[in-house]
Amino acid sequence: MSLNVFITGASSGIGAALANEFATRGACLGLVARRRDALDAVEAALPGKHHTYVADVTDREALIGTARAFDAAVGGTDIVIANAGISIGVKTEFHEDLEQFARVMDTNVLGMAATFHPFIAGMKARRRGTLVGIASVAGVRGLPGSDAYCASKAAAIVYCESLRVEMAKHGIKVVTIAPGFIRTSLTRKNPYQMPFLMDADAFAQRAADAIVAGVRYRTIPWQMGGVSSLLKLMPRWLFDRLMSNRKQKPRAGDA
Ligand SMILES: NC(=O)c1ccc[n+]([C@@H]2O[C@H](COP(=O)([O-])OP(=O)(O)OC[C@H]3O[C@@H](n4cnc5c(N)ncnc54)[C@H](OP(=O)(O)O)[C@@H]3O)[C@@H](O)[C@H]2O)c1
Repeated sequence: MSLNVFITGASSGIGAALANEFATRGACLGLVARRRDALDAVEAALPGKHHTYVADVTDREALIGTARAFDAAVGGTDIVIANAGISIGVKTEFHEDLEQFARVMDTNVLGMAATFHPFIAGMKARRRGTLVGIASVAGVRGLPGSDAYCASKAAAIVYCESLRVEMAKHGIKVVTIAPGFIRTSLTRKNPYQMPFLMDADAFAQRAADAIVAGVRYRTIPWQMGGVSSLLKLMPRWLFDRLMSNRKQKPRAGDA
Protein backbone atom coordinates (compact mmCIF):
# COMPACT_ATOMS: atom_id res chain seq x y z
CA MET A 1 0.00 0.00 0.00
CA SER A 2 1.37 3.41 -0.96
CA LEU A 3 1.86 5.79 1.97
CA ASN A 4 0.96 9.48 2.09
CA VAL A 5 3.67 11.29 4.05
CA PHE A 6 3.77 14.96 5.13
CA ILE A 7 7.24 16.33 6.00
CA THR A 8 8.12 19.80 7.29
CA GLY A 9 11.62 21.21 6.82
CA ALA A 10 11.94 19.22 3.60
CA SER A 11 14.10 21.71 1.67
CA SER A 12 17.43 20.48 3.07
CA GLY A 13 19.27 18.13 5.39
CA ILE A 14 17.32 15.48 7.27
CA GLY A 15 13.93 16.49 5.80
CA ALA A 16 15.21 16.25 2.22
CA ALA A 17 16.85 12.89 2.97
CA LEU A 18 13.61 11.58 4.52
CA ALA A 19 11.72 12.80 1.44
CA ASN A 20 14.11 10.87 -0.80
CA GLU A 21 13.88 7.74 1.37
CA PHE A 22 10.06 7.69 1.47
CA ALA A 23 9.74 8.58 -2.24
CA THR A 24 12.08 5.70 -3.08
CA ARG A 25 9.77 3.44 -1.04
CA GLY A 26 6.85 4.57 -3.24
CA ALA A 27 5.23 7.16 -0.94
CA CYS A 28 3.33 10.25 -2.10
CA LEU A 29 4.77 13.26 -0.27
CA GLY A 30 3.64 16.66 0.99
CA LEU A 31 6.80 18.72 1.42
CA VAL A 32 6.91 21.96 3.41
CA ALA A 33 9.58 24.64 3.88
CA ARG A 34 10.00 28.41 3.53
CA ARG A 35 12.43 28.41 0.54
CA ARG A 36 10.63 27.69 -2.73
CA ASP A 37 13.82 27.18 -4.81
CA ALA A 38 15.32 24.66 -2.41
CA LEU A 39 12.01 22.82 -2.09
CA ASP A 40 11.64 22.59 -5.88
CA ALA A 41 15.20 21.28 -6.23
CA VAL A 42 14.47 18.53 -3.68
CA GLU A 43 11.22 17.59 -5.41
CA ALA A 44 12.80 17.54 -8.89
CA ALA A 45 15.26 14.86 -7.78
CA LEU A 46 12.57 12.54 -6.33
CA PRO A 47 10.97 9.57 -8.05
CA GLY A 48 7.17 9.93 -8.35
CA LYS A 49 4.75 12.84 -8.18
CA HIS A 50 4.51 14.94 -5.01
CA HIS A 51 3.06 18.13 -3.51
CA THR A 52 5.18 21.05 -2.30
CA TYR A 53 4.05 23.93 -0.09
CA VAL A 54 5.84 27.08 0.96
CA ALA A 55 4.90 27.66 4.58
CA ASP A 56 6.48 28.78 7.83
CA VAL A 57 5.73 26.44 10.74
CA THR A 58 5.57 29.45 13.08
CA ASP A 59 2.60 30.75 11.07
CA ARG A 60 0.18 28.29 12.61
CA GLU A 61 -2.92 29.11 10.57
CA ALA A 62 -1.00 28.98 7.25
CA LEU A 63 0.54 25.65 8.24
CA ILE A 64 -2.83 24.20 9.23
CA GLY A 65 -4.27 25.30 5.86
CA THR A 66 -1.35 23.67 4.05
CA ALA A 67 -1.74 20.43 5.99
CA ARG A 68 -5.47 20.29 5.26
CA ALA A 69 -4.82 20.92 1.54
CA PHE A 70 -2.42 17.95 1.37
CA ASP A 71 -4.70 15.70 3.43
CA ALA A 72 -7.63 16.46 1.10
CA ALA A 73 -5.53 16.08 -2.07
CA VAL A 74 -4.31 12.59 -1.13
CA GLY A 75 -7.44 11.37 0.69
CA GLY A 76 -5.84 10.99 4.14
CA THR A 77 -2.29 11.18 5.48
CA ASP A 78 -0.56 8.12 6.93
CA ILE A 79 2.63 9.65 8.36
CA VAL A 80 3.34 13.22 9.53
CA ILE A 81 6.95 14.14 10.22
CA ALA A 82 7.49 17.36 12.20
CA ASN A 83 11.11 17.91 11.26
CA ALA A 84 11.48 21.68 10.68
CA GLY A 85 13.87 23.05 13.24
CA ILE A 86 16.54 25.64 13.94
CA SER A 87 19.58 25.65 16.17
CA ILE A 88 21.27 28.89 17.27
CA GLY A 89 23.56 29.52 20.22
CA VAL A 90 21.47 31.40 22.82
CA LYS A 91 22.70 32.85 26.11
CA THR A 92 20.14 34.07 28.60
CA GLU A 93 22.43 36.92 29.78
CA PHE A 94 22.07 38.80 26.44
CA HIS A 95 18.87 40.80 26.01
CA GLU A 96 18.77 40.29 22.23
CA ASP A 97 19.00 36.52 22.71
CA LEU A 98 15.57 36.41 24.34
CA GLU A 99 14.07 37.05 20.91
CA GLN A 100 16.12 34.17 19.48
CA PHE A 101 14.94 32.01 22.37
CA ALA A 102 11.33 32.70 21.40
CA ARG A 103 12.07 31.93 17.73
CA VAL A 104 13.65 28.57 18.58
CA MET A 105 10.77 27.54 20.87
CA ASP A 106 8.18 28.72 18.36
CA THR A 107 9.76 26.70 15.54
CA ASN A 108 10.93 23.56 17.35
CA VAL A 109 8.09 23.07 19.85
CA LEU A 110 4.94 24.98 18.87
CA GLY A 111 5.69 24.33 15.18
CA MET A 112 5.65 20.61 15.94
CA ALA A 113 2.25 20.78 17.65
CA ALA A 114 0.85 22.93 14.82
CA THR A 115 2.13 20.34 12.32
CA PHE A 116 0.39 17.43 14.08
CA HIS A 117 -2.83 19.23 15.03
CA PRO A 118 -4.62 19.32 11.64
CA PHE A 119 -4.11 15.60 11.01
CA ILE A 120 -5.42 14.22 14.30
CA ALA A 121 -9.18 14.37 13.58
CA GLY A 122 -8.78 12.42 10.30
CA MET A 123 -6.43 9.87 11.86
CA LYS A 124 -8.84 9.37 14.77
CA ALA A 125 -11.70 8.77 12.33
CA ARG A 126 -9.61 6.21 10.39
CA ARG A 127 -8.14 4.80 13.63
CA ARG A 128 -4.63 4.80 12.19
CA GLY A 129 -1.71 7.11 11.43
CA THR A 130 1.75 7.96 12.70
CA LEU A 131 2.94 11.31 14.06
CA VAL A 132 6.73 11.67 14.12
CA GLY A 133 8.64 14.27 16.15
CA ILE A 134 12.26 14.91 15.19
CA ALA A 135 13.79 15.73 18.58
CA SER A 136 17.51 15.49 19.43
CA VAL A 137 20.03 13.93 21.77
CA ALA A 138 20.53 17.59 22.79
CA GLY A 139 17.19 17.33 24.59
CA VAL A 140 18.55 14.84 27.09
CA ARG A 141 20.80 17.22 29.12
CA GLY A 142 21.38 20.98 29.03
CA LEU A 143 24.49 21.91 27.05
CA PRO A 144 26.19 25.25 27.86
CA GLY A 145 25.45 28.00 25.31
CA SER A 146 22.52 26.05 23.82
CA ASP A 147 19.94 27.32 26.33
CA ALA A 148 17.12 27.52 23.80
CA TYR A 149 17.93 24.53 21.58
CA CYS A 150 18.31 22.08 24.48
CA ALA A 151 15.17 23.43 26.17
CA SER A 152 13.23 23.12 22.90
CA LYS A 153 14.33 19.54 22.24
CA ALA A 154 13.68 18.48 25.86
CA ALA A 155 10.21 19.98 25.45
CA ALA A 156 9.75 18.14 22.14
CA ILE A 157 10.66 14.80 23.74
CA VAL A 158 8.27 15.22 26.66
CA TYR A 159 5.54 16.69 24.43
CA CYS A 160 5.70 13.66 22.11
CA GLU A 161 5.46 11.38 25.13
CA SER A 162 2.29 13.10 26.36
CA LEU A 163 0.82 12.84 22.89
CA ARG A 164 1.89 9.20 22.46
CA VAL A 165 -0.05 8.01 25.47
CA GLU A 166 -3.05 10.18 24.57
CA MET A 167 -3.18 9.06 20.92
CA ALA A 168 -2.63 5.32 21.53
CA LYS A 169 -6.28 4.74 22.42
CA HIS A 170 -7.26 6.14 19.01
CA GLY A 171 -4.95 3.81 17.08
CA ILE A 172 -2.48 6.63 16.32
CA LYS A 173 1.24 6.05 16.91
CA VAL A 174 3.62 8.78 18.03
CA VAL A 175 7.28 8.15 17.19
CA THR A 176 10.08 10.25 18.67
CA ILE A 177 13.34 10.24 16.72
CA ALA A 178 16.40 11.64 18.49
CA PRO A 179 19.19 12.22 15.96
CA GLY A 180 22.78 12.36 17.20
CA PHE A 181 25.11 14.35 14.92
CA ILE A 182 23.98 14.28 11.29
CA ARG A 183 25.90 15.97 8.45
CA THR A 184 23.62 18.90 7.43
CA SER A 185 23.79 22.69 7.29
CA LEU A 186 22.73 22.71 10.95
CA THR A 187 25.94 20.98 12.08
CA ARG A 188 28.32 22.34 9.41
CA LYS A 189 29.74 25.11 11.57
CA ASN A 190 29.70 23.37 14.95
CA PRO A 191 33.00 24.24 16.65
CA TYR A 192 33.07 21.08 18.77
CA GLN A 193 33.75 17.40 18.16
CA MET A 194 30.78 15.46 16.79
CA PRO A 195 31.14 11.77 17.70
CA PHE A 196 29.55 9.22 15.34
CA LEU A 197 28.72 11.94 12.76
CA MET A 198 26.42 10.33 10.21
CA ASP A 199 25.36 11.17 6.62
CA ALA A 200 21.75 12.31 6.23
CA ASP A 201 20.88 9.53 3.74
CA ALA A 202 22.05 6.77 6.08
CA PHE A 203 20.14 8.46 8.91
CA ALA A 204 16.98 8.66 6.80
CA GLN A 205 17.05 4.93 5.99
CA ARG A 206 17.20 4.01 9.68
CA ALA A 207 14.65 6.65 10.65
CA ALA A 208 12.18 5.46 7.99
CA ASP A 209 12.52 1.87 9.26
CA ALA A 210 11.79 3.03 12.82
CA ILE A 211 8.83 5.15 11.67
CA VAL A 212 7.26 2.37 9.60
CA ALA A 213 7.76 -0.05 12.52
CA GLY A 214 6.02 2.49 14.81
CA VAL A 215 8.67 2.41 17.56
CA ARG A 216 8.08 4.74 20.49
CA TYR A 217 11.55 6.31 20.66
CA ARG A 218 14.72 5.79 18.63
CA THR A 219 18.13 7.42 18.83
CA ILE A 220 20.08 7.37 15.54
CA PRO A 221 22.89 6.43 15.20
CA TRP A 222 22.58 3.71 17.85
CA GLN A 223 25.98 4.59 19.33
CA MET A 224 24.55 7.96 20.37
CA GLY A 225 21.76 6.04 22.10
CA GLY A 226 24.46 4.65 24.39
CA VAL A 227 25.94 8.12 24.93
CA SER A 228 22.47 9.46 25.60
CA SER A 229 21.72 6.76 28.21
CA LEU A 230 25.05 7.46 29.95
CA LEU A 231 24.32 11.20 29.95
CA LYS A 232 20.88 10.59 31.45
CA LEU A 233 22.36 8.57 34.32
CA MET A 234 25.38 10.81 34.91
CA PRO A 235 25.38 12.60 38.29
CA ARG A 236 25.12 16.38 38.00
CA TRP A 237 28.55 17.06 39.55
CA LEU A 238 30.26 14.89 36.90
CA PHE A 239 28.14 16.31 34.05
CA ASP A 240 29.03 19.86 35.14
CA ARG A 241 32.72 19.02 35.28
CA LEU A 242 32.75 17.37 31.82
CA MET A 243 30.74 20.17 30.16
CA SER A 244 32.34 23.22 31.80
CA ASN A 245 34.91 23.83 29.02
CA ARG A 246 32.88 22.51 26.10
CA LYS A 247 33.04 24.65 22.95
CA GLN A 248 29.70 26.32 22.20
CA LYS A 249 27.39 26.91 19.25
CA PRO A 250 27.83 30.47 17.85
CA ARG A 251 25.13 33.03 18.79
CA ALA A 252 23.08 34.68 16.02
CA GLY A 253 25.28 37.79 15.96
CA ASP A 254 28.60 35.91 16.03
CA ALA A 255 30.70 35.74 12.87
N1 LIG B 1 21.76 17.72 11.96
C1 LIG B 1 21.80 17.21 13.18
O1 LIG B 1 22.86 16.74 13.65
C2 LIG B 1 20.57 17.17 14.04
C3 LIG B 1 20.67 16.56 15.30
C4 LIG B 1 19.55 16.51 16.11
C5 LIG B 1 18.33 17.01 15.67
N2 LIG B 1 18.26 17.60 14.44
C6 LIG B 1 16.96 18.13 14.03
O2 LIG B 1 16.65 17.72 12.72
C7 LIG B 1 15.78 18.67 12.12
C8 LIG B 1 16.30 19.02 10.73
O3 LIG B 1 17.55 19.66 10.87
P1 LIG B 1 18.72 19.54 9.77
O4 LIG B 1 19.93 19.09 10.48
O5 LIG B 1 18.23 18.81 8.59
O6 LIG B 1 18.94 21.08 9.46
P2 LIG B 1 18.73 21.95 8.12
O7 LIG B 1 19.46 21.33 6.97
O8 LIG B 1 19.07 23.34 8.52
O9 LIG B 1 17.18 21.81 7.84
C9 LIG B 1 16.20 22.50 8.56
C10 LIG B 1 14.94 22.49 7.73
O10 LIG B 1 13.90 23.13 8.48
C11 LIG B 1 13.30 24.11 7.65
N3 LIG B 1 12.80 25.18 8.49
C12 LIG B 1 13.47 25.90 9.44
N4 LIG B 1 12.66 26.79 10.01
C13 LIG B 1 11.44 26.64 9.42
C14 LIG B 1 10.19 27.27 9.58
N5 LIG B 1 10.01 28.27 10.46
N6 LIG B 1 9.16 26.87 8.81
C15 LIG B 1 9.31 25.88 7.91
N7 LIG B 1 10.48 25.23 7.71
C16 LIG B 1 11.52 25.63 8.47
C17 LIG B 1 14.40 24.56 6.68
O11 LIG B 1 13.84 25.01 5.45
P3 LIG B 1 13.63 26.55 5.02
O12 LIG B 1 14.83 27.32 5.50
O13 LIG B 1 13.52 26.45 3.52
O14 LIG B 1 12.36 26.94 5.67
C18 LIG B 1 15.08 23.23 6.42
O15 LIG B 1 14.39 22.51 5.41
C19 LIG B 1 15.70 19.85 13.09
O16 LIG B 1 14.54 19.75 13.88
C20 LIG B 1 16.92 19.65 13.95
O17 LIG B 1 16.79 20.23 15.22
C21 LIG B 1 19.34 17.70 13.62
